Amino acid sequence: MTRVLTGLQPSGLLHIGNYFGAVEPMVRLQGESEMFMFIPDYHAITVPQKPAELRRNILFATAVYLAAGIDPKKTVLFQQSAVSQHTELGWILNCIAKMGELGRMTQFKDKSTGKGENVSVGLFDYPVLMAADILLYDTQAVPVGADQKQHVELARDLAIRFNKTFGDTFVVPEPLIRKEGARLMGLDSTEKKMSKSAASPKNYISLMDDAAAVEKKIKAAVTDSGTEVKAGPNRPALTNLLTIFSLVSGKTVAELEKNHEGKEYGAFKTDLAEAVNAWSAPLQMKIRELLADEAALVAVLKAGAEKARVVAEKKMQAVRTKIGVALT
Ligand code: ADP
Ligand code: TRP
Repeated sequence: MTRVLTGLQPSGLLHIGNYFGAVEPMVRLQGESEMFMFIPDYHAITVPQKPAELRRNILFATAVYLAAGIDPKKTVLFQQSAVSQHTELGWILNCIAKMGELGRMTQFKDKSTGKGENVSVGLFDYPVLMAADILLYDTQAVPVGADQKQHVELARDLAIRFNKTFGDTFVVPEPLIRKEGARLMGLDSTEKKMSKSAASPKNYISLMDDAAAVEKKIKAAVTDSGTEVKAGPNRPALTNLLTIFSLVSGKTVAELEKNHEGKEYGAFKTDLAEAVNAWSAPLQMKIRELLADEAALVAVLKAGAEKARVVAEKKMQAVRTKIGVALT
């Protein structure tokens, strides 16, 4: 079985784009791969975080994964900060990573532009910690969004460099770029993707939006000229709405088009809002139930960290020996 590892940033706001684009594909991968999934909380602090909020977001992310169907018996689910081997290997990899290659990372350039000297060293160093996350577990495939491909390539480069210098130690991982198929666009624009950093909350449907909010946002969503409920290359707004409908209902776009033949946009939007709410209500209930038992969530993460630590420590022993710091 292929060993797969991924991390999703703990954010208090997950929209349906994140859910269908990132969480659900992991649930589907569970049966066919050996899965490691973790919450990169030490990556989150590369930009300022309020401690109480970060704590809440870690628990929320855990609840979402479990509610979505991540099964801790099949997936090693853990918190990055609970396995200190990540930061330990991160330090060692820092000593073979080059300033030049990190300076070329587009995410760093995007996030630091205009901030002058006022960005954290952690933000610059972020991809090295990510390489450590990946290499500790002999990861073969790393499912990520296209924006993270460059970071996985750095992990490959560092693995190859380390292996060349100190002897074969790390598996060289492959990025598994999520298909653009599930890429949802913002409700308020056909040009920009649905994103939590969008200027207006009308851009996205949050996983925790209540029925009234969902209805309001869908009613306000942009549509294409004309009146037909049809997808197509020159109908980006309806294509997006029909894609959302299809994802939440399990029906195909063609079926949904047929069901809405002769109906107006207004009626279609009412149906869509209903379908989204019918899909999210049980999921929200599960998330709330899980959040209500904090001790159980903590226990899941703790058990996951224990399993992860065994694998990570074994790799670290090899690394310490290779670089010459292990004395016995
Ligand atoms: P955001 O733009 O909302 O901040 P992130 O950059 O944190 O989202 O993305 C986390 C993951 O969620 C990405 O790697 C990507 O796979 C997925 N994702 C984000 N936005 C969308 C979207 N609009 N449609 C589908 N998947 C998305
Ligand atoms: N950088 C990733 C993101 O923002 C999250 C992440 C951290 C990650 N470490 C990882 C993803 C290791 C895959 C593997 O989406």
